[in-house]
Amino acid sequence: MKVLVVGGGGREHALVRKLSQSPRVKQIFCAPGNAGIAADATCINIKAEDINGLLEFARKEQIDLTVVGPEAPLTEGIVDIFREAGLKIFGPTARAAAIEGSKVLSKEIMRKHGIPTARYSSFNEPAGAYEYIKEIGVPCVVKADGLAAGKGVIVAYDEETARAAVREIMENKAFGRAGEQIIIEEFLQGEEVSILAFTDGKTIVPMVPSQDHKQVFDGDQGPNTGGMGAYAPAPVCTPEIYQYSLENILKPTVEAMAKEGRPYQGVLYAGLMVTAEGPKVLEYNARFGDPETQPVLMLLETDLVEIIEAIIENRLEQLEIKWKNRAAVCVILASGGYPGSYEKGKIITGLDDVPEDVVVFHAGTARKDDQIVTSGGRVLGVAAESEDIAGAIEKAYAAVRKIGFEGMHYRKDIGRKAIS
Ligand code: AMP
Ligand code: GLY
Repeated sequence: MKVLVVGGGGREHALVRKLSQSPRVKQIFCAPGNAGIAADATCINIKAEDINGLLEFARKEQIDLTVVGPEAPLTEGIVDIFREAGLKIFGPTARAAAIEGSKVLSKEIMRKHGIPTARYSSFNEPAGAYEYIKEIGVPCVVKADGLAAGKGVIVAYDEETARAAVREIMENKAFGRAGEQIIIEEFLQGEEVSILAFTDGKTIVPMVPSQDHKQVFDGDQGPNTGGMGAYAPAPVCTPEIYQYSLENILKPTVEAMAKEGRPYQGVLYAGLMVTAEGPKVLEYNARFGDPETQPVLMLLETDLVEIIEAIIENRLEQLEIKWKNRAAVCVILASGGYPGSYEKGKIITGLDDVPEDVVVFHAGTARKDDQIVTSGGRVLGVAAESEDIAGAIEKAYAAVRKIGFEGMHYRKDIGRKAIS
């Protein structure tokens, strides 16, 4: 079959790599892809948000299956539009993807259906928000309602920061319409875990639990990023916590979405905080996580095409999904200045010196003449698997030390929480 992957980051590189291992797949296209994806797929110059352009391409090329990486086309209805055109596509509809696209909606659903999450209130004008900050005290968390490329969440340890966040989002409109409504919620203490699950709307099959590293510096210091590294499995998700999350979070969420007239099919990502009172939902995503997907798919034994087809055909229940009894770690190499402003076009060296059993996922790279150069904030994800996390960490970092570009920085402690 001919497959189209939509997106152009590290997650999409991982999807392309896994899909290309399927004996069912003859040809893979990626829109827009990047310099690394180009080695495994035919990259086409159509943006992930250009739904009409993608539709036209899929029709012309007679694509048999489209797999969507990022959230924007999902919330904009790419799945609805492809389905109406009679094309097979994997992901939630716009109404279902709204669980990520609107934090107000997702919190309302959690409250209504008794799904554990932080206490909160939502606001569509700043005065009430300033009042509520005084009422719940600090630390508290201010969140823009809509999509803000991972920047719409501010954890405030003092009242002035919380007020400034409200001001930025609601009065200065830092995120445009995404900030017309906000959530202010209670700060949750604990360790985070990402549980991504496959679901056809009836059956839910969680993937191996993983952990992202959101802050830019070692020891979880500094501002939030799109994710500086991830590993799986995450031991913080003990068998008890896994079971609790499946029964009390994932299942009720999928049931709630059906009851709300938003039947959910695709990958449901639950970002959880494991608190003293048990796991609580920080956020939902309507897609594979980035960078969690990179280590998680390395551990997936089953053919991803088989899983996707079972989901689209509502027969996930009949499929047994197998995972390797191993561990995987992915370390992100970022541009100097990221998550703030950074320069592009830096020549990347050492890619050919990476051992064959280490996978370098490209995120923000481009080809310039016969060299690979940086073209984004998160540039590469260096990933390795081993029998345990410690082994995978060692292998990944040994490969990281072979690679270089001007301004390159990365966290030195990816995966350390799993072994401490
Ligand atoms: P979100 O996009 O909602 O997952 O938020 C991004 C990050 O902000 C999360 O991964 C957490 O590190 C942090 N965060 C969000 N909500 C809370 C909360 N209620 N308590 C503590 N940290 C939070
Ligand atoms: N790793 C966080 C995300 O994919 O949103």
